[in-house]
Amino acid sequence: MKTLLHIDASARKTTNSVAAYNSISKSIAATFIRKWRAINREDKIIHRDVGVNPPAFISQDWIAAVFTSDAAKTDDQKALLSLSDTLIREVEQADIIVMSSSMYNYGMPAALKAWFDQVIRLNKTFTFDLARGDFPLEPIMSGKTLILITSSGEFGFGIGGIREKMNHLGPHIRTLSHYLGVETVHEINAEYQEFNDERHIRSVANAHRAAEELALKLARSRELADG
Ligand SMILES: Cc1cc2nc3c(=O)[nH]c(=O)nc-3n(C[C@H](O)[C@H](O)[C@H](O)COP(=O)(O)O)c2cc1C
Repeated sequence: MKTLLHIDASARKTTNSVAAYNSISKSIAATFIRKWRAINREDKIIHRDVGVNPPAFISQDWIAAVFTSDAAKTDDQKALLSLSDTLIREVEQADIIVMSSSMYNYGMPAALKAWFDQVIRLNKTFTFDLARGDFPLEPIMSGKTLILITSSGEFGFGIGGIREKMNHLGPHIRTLSHYLGVETVHEINAEYQEFNDERHIRSVANAHRAAEELALKLARSRELADG
């Protein structure tokens, strides 16, 4: 049995009366999860929609609490870190992280950044040691797979694309996910939402198909791995 952590980040829902208002990235993630569930009925899936329920931003007191040893932490500091503790426990359990995100202002939604700030935490998800030289940070966890599903209004954000250098979404999340023990990343992108044309329809359809195919492929490779 595997555990999936499913994080959605768009501010939009998927239950609007007008379908065009629905989140595309969440819908594609839902396609992946549906296919996954159909194949792996036993698996545990933890779902968080940080777009609808954003985690708190970190604060000076939060940082001070993180840098206080466990033995010296006050009750207030423990309470301040309890959301972070809960979110980290969810990451620890996950073999696979399915993360869906809109592109907002060429990067991730603030709610998703708030989630990363809560979960990438000294001595919980990474260690820091100057004896390591110029790269003192090391992740504590390992072996996780990230499936990153994004939707953007414009297009050409991929490698070699006309807006590659403007893409601060996928590259940022790949960098951060290393500190959560992610070693393999699969990315599915829907583009052209703002153009609302044939290219958009094709891009979304391709992304849904890619999500189904990836669920199938990972399930098969797991069968092989499980022997
Ligand atoms: C506040 C906001 C900022 C956006 N910024 C960008 C952007 O920088 N680049 C882009 O290509 N699309 C941008 N878009 C378009 C969204 O990426 C697009 O609508 C996408 O489908 C949103 O994801 P969702 O459908 O999952 O909600 C923006 C949309 C909003 C609402």
